[in-house]
Amino acid sequence: MTIKTANRIRQIQEYFFSKKLKEIAAMKEAGKDVLNLGIGSPDLSPPNEVINILNQESQFDQNHSYQSYIGVEDLRNAFSKWYETHFSVDLDPETEILPLIGSKEGIMHISMTYLEEGDEVLVPNPGYPAYRSAALLSGAATVEYSLSIENNWLPDLDQLSQMDLTNVKLMWLNYPHMPTGAKATKIAFENLIAFAKKHQILLVNDNPYSFILNDNPLSILSIEGAKEIAIELNSLSKSHNMAGWRVGMIAGKAAFLSEILKFKSNMDSGMFLPVQLAAAKALELPKVWYENLNQIYRERQLKVFQIMDLLGCEYDKNQSGMFVWAKVPDKEKDGFKLSEKLLNNAHVFVTPGGVFGSNGDQFIRISLFNKLPVFEQSIERIKKIAA
Ligand SMILES: Cc1ncc(COP(=O)(O)O)c(C=O)c1O
Repeated sequence: MTIKTANRIRQIQEYFFSKKLKEIAAMKEAGKDVLNLGIGSPDLSPPNEVINILNQESQFDQNHSYQSYIGVEDLRNAFSKWYETHFSVDLDPETEILPLIGSKEGIMHISMTYLEEGDEVLVPNPGYPAYRSAALLSGAATVEYSLSIENNWLPDLDQLSQMDLTNVKLMWLNYPHMPTGAKATKIAFENLIAFAKKHQILLVNDNPYSFILNDNPLSILSIEGAKEIAIELNSLSKSHNMAGWRVGMIAGKAAFLSEILKFKSNMDSGMFLPVQLAAAKALELPKVWYENLNQIYRERQLKVFQIMDLLGCEYDKNQSGMFVWAKVPDKEKDGFKLSEKLLNNAHVFVTPGGVFGSNGDQFIRISLFNKLPVFEQSIERIKKIAA
């Protein structure tokens, strides 16, 4: 007997990486030593002072209880300070910050709060697949907007304005952009805010890569008048090597956040207090923390550029975020084929750009979350198959 699943589940598929990791695990079991350059998770730790707080605070009986749905004051204050220090954005820690158990979860909270059947959502192509899945699970329909290398991977507002936007209620932005590594500019954000106000579309900028290989972190909330129509997600996953800790936040005007809280408070029962206190410590880290982290990523990025050169791929050297995004050479059919070829012949996995949308078909993405020897070994293997 099979129990019929809900319609909403039939619209989505198992996450690409969930399937691919099983395939890689099976290859490893069969004795093939696969080097995984697709990993999207940090391989380094947060600093000891952050881990020490987690250890210390875990010793007390009273710290193991359920926590408030809106996070503790220390954490909200720390987020507020962080936004003021790094983004020059003023946020009221009482009402304009909502700590989250990860920003991926926030994508779902926002979608379930604002979307329903009949609504449309603008999602980037290429882009992070969770925006689409969350929209479909909420009952809404997705409308892709094209990003292209010609437009620096920024939304083409002329093209968007010609579309029928009557049912569009929400638009996902993600700058610095994953997977392309493109940055937004102040002007691009200003134009987007004006566009969103004109068409009454809630703009959500997903900003987890602002501190990675990016000298000027930019928040959409720093644009004048942004709070009226935009909210922003942020996360400690990449900026502080805390992906498994699950700490993120939504920032924006109280009226938006109080609605989102109605959904969120029915989903989780707060975040482990020692994690919140350690996260507050992480948010206080001085600039040198980000500089040192970026130094490591710069070195790795150079190795990945070497891999891309060997493959004959074209790429922008000024990319932000955790990945290198590159166009496959004309001699390859597309990124899927090149990825398969590398996996089968060199036992090196790189992510085909097409998993992020059709505009990524001719691209591949390599992550910076591996130590240098893994990149060096990959270079040797690729040299052999290219020879
Ligand atoms: C664009 C983008 N947004 C959000 C997330 C999720 O981050 P978090 O760990 O905060 O849930 C990721 C993770 O890979 C991402 O690439």
